[in-house]
This record gives sequence, structure tokens and C-alpha cells, in this order.
Amino acid sequence: MKPIQVGLLGFGTVGAGVAKVLVRNAEEIGRRAGRAIEVKRVGVRNIDKARTAAPSGTELSFGDDMRAVVDDPEVDIVCELIGGTELAKELVLRAIANRKHVVTANKALLAIHGNEIFAAAQKAGVMVNFEAAVAGGIPIIKALREGLTANRIEWIAGIINGTSNFILSDMRDTGASFADALAQAQKLGYAEADPTFDIEGHDAAHKLTILAAIAFGIPMQFEKAYLEGISTLSRDDIRYAEELGYRIKLLGITKRKPNGIELRVHPTLVPAKRIIANVEGVMNAVVVQGDAVGQTLYSGRGAGAEPTASAVVADLVDVTRLLTADPEHRVPHLAFQPDRLVDLPILPI
Ligand code: NDP
Ligand code: HSE
Repeated sequence: MKPIQVGLLGFGTVGAGVAKVLVRNAEEIGRRAGRAIEVKRVGVRNIDKARTAAPSGTELSFGDDMRAVVDDPEVDIVCELIGGTELAKELVLRAIANRKHVVTANKALLAIHGNEIFAAAQKAGVMVNFEAAVAGGIPIIKALREGLTANRIEWIAGIINGTSNFILSDMRDTGASFADALAQAQKLGYAEADPTFDIEGHDAAHKLTILAAIAFGIPMQFEKAYLEGISTLSRDDIRYAEELGYRIKLLGITKRKPNGIELRVHPTLVPAKRIIANVEGVMNAVVVQGDAVGQTLYSGRGAGAEPTASAVVADLVDVTRLLTADPEHRVPHLAFQPDRLVDLPILPI
């Protein structure tokens, strides 16, 4: 059977990780998906930038106009890994209009324009998958939409920004300064293009917006989230918390209340004996409270090339399975369904 052709938008930390994992694990991925998955073309901003060598066996054509990738009739799935909300939105909507399935890791895009994007996808009958957009390599979207689907979700709380957790851990463990720890997180490819998104809580709030939308069936409402970052914390704050038996963690918390939903991101004192207090470095952890299952905990690497690629490729496999099914039985199922939303207000904090 003809391999599925992917049009990759972006070949930075995550894009290069995706290409690498697709080639290295091609045999397993092809077997599980029912069909080989290949990168057909790649679009980047700067064609002159030095790149790590393209994995052998994969033809990468740098410098394509981004729109040409999205318009290529041979591309089955558009994989958006450029970040930002302007060009990414245009390209994703264009891909959907071309009736192509989309995989994205872009939480800012979905938290801000998700209502419009998913409405367009629903109308066009295409998938928009986004496992990598929340908590990097942790399959939390699949857990919410599949494993926990029988539950009334009561609350979700988690460490969902790897860069801030890395900074807080580094300041505590090695006495690193805030600036040095952030520079290291950037060097390791964890931080957003604009790292203020990481340290001021925006990135965590983007992810929390998506989690709340899926868990409670509400629209994406990033603009109503309460957010407070870690940039004003000092080593003394971390040390005093430690002396009192706590760790400071940047938590995203969303909770169902009788009159609406709480949506908040802020530094939190977590008792040191709690598992989540001991989640260090780039690791993320998400706790979900469901009425039937009780508490479940998911932990793993929340950022970085291959952990994120793991989630992106899982989404590519899901779409490939759909495309490989008998056309009469192809029913795209969106994790977020804009025509089935519940009217619950976001509560002021
Ligand atoms: P990078 O900055 O490393 O890579 C971005 C890529 O997109 C580059 O190849 C860049 O081209 C290209 N690009 C950016 N802007 C444009 C533009 N205007 N026109 C054309 N090409 C453009 O980002 P990441 O790989 O880190 O992140 C990509 C996405 O994944 C973001 O949405 C991010 O939030 C998300 N994400 C990132 C994670 C991580 O650990 N890094 C984890 C989870 C999600 P060029 O190479 O020429 O500069
Ligand atoms: N900048 C993000 C983080 C990348 O540090 O968590 C993963 O979404």
C-alpha cells in the first residue's frame, strides 16, 4: 500500500525529532499504523540555516513555500510544528479547507483559535490531532478522551510547563540563578520561541485551557484563565518553602465547581511528601480526578525533541489508521467537538 505522505511545517526541535523517530522506528510504526509513514516535504523559514543532517532514506526539501506544502495534492497529513498563532492559523485552516488531516503540537494556536479550527475541521470531516500540545510526551489527551471517557471529571492539576519546572528544580538543586537555569532550558530545546510564555505562565495556561475544554466540554477560553508565573521567585523563596516542608511548583489547576469552572496557573506550595512535589526537571505530571476512577497520575517528559516527537508520531499513526480503514467506515473523531459544548462559565479568581 502506498505510504502516507506527511507535509512537515517546521524543522526545529520538534520537527527534526519527528523526522528522526519516523525513520528510526519505521518498521514498528508502519506495522502498528498498517501503512508506512513518510515525510514528503518540509517547509522552514530560513533555507540557509545549518541543519542537522536529514535522516537517510527521507527526502527533505527545505525552503518550500509553506503554502505549497499545504496545497500539495500528494500530502495526506499536514504536521504543523512552526509555533505562533498567525501563520500557523492560516496554514492549518488552509490545510483543513484542502481536506487534509492536521497534526499539531501548537498549544497557543489551539487555546486561542481552537474553537474556530475545530469547527472548520468538523465541517470538512478531517482530524485535528494535538497530543503533543499538552505535556509533551505524556499521552494525556488520549487518556482523557479514551481511558477516562466514562468519568465525570472533577478536577485536573499538573505541572505542565517543563521549562519552569526545570528552572525551579535547578535553582533548588544546584543553586543556579534564574537566568542561568532558563538559558540551560533554552539550550536543551525546552523553551518556547518567546520564553516569557514559559516563565509567566502563558504556556501552562494554554495547555490548561485545552485540558479543561476536553475534560468539561467547554469552549477554549484562554483569555479567562488566571495566570501568574515564576519570574519573581527567588532562591530564598525556594529555600524557605523547603524548610517548611514544601516544594514550590508552577501548577495548572482546573476544577468543576457548582457554579462554573476554575482555570488557574500559579506557583503553589506542595507538601514535599506528595509525588507531584518530587517531579523534577523537565518532567511533567498531571493528576486527574474522575468520579468513577478516582485519582490517576500521568508523568513523563514534558518537552524536548524526542519526547514531543513521540506524541506527534502517535497522532500521525492515528490518522494513518483512519486513512487505511475502508472508506465507508472512516469516521474522524475529534477530541474537541465544538457542536457539543456545555455552557459553564469560567469563574473569576
Ligand atoms: P523551533 O523554534 O525549534 O522550530 C520552529 C520551526 O518552524 C523552525 O524550523 C522554523 O524555521 C519554522 N518556522 C517558524 N516560524 C516560521 C515562519 N514564520 N515561516 C516559516 N517557518 C517558520 O520550535 P519547536 O520545534 O521547539 O516548537 C514547534 C512547536 O511545537 C511550537 O508550537 C511549540 O510550542 C511546540 N512544542 C514544543 C516543544 C518543545 O519541547 N520544544 C514541546 C511541545 C510542543 P527555521 O528552522 O528556518 O528557523
Ligand atoms: N515550552 C514548553 C515547556 C514546551 O517548557 O513545557 C512543551 O510544551
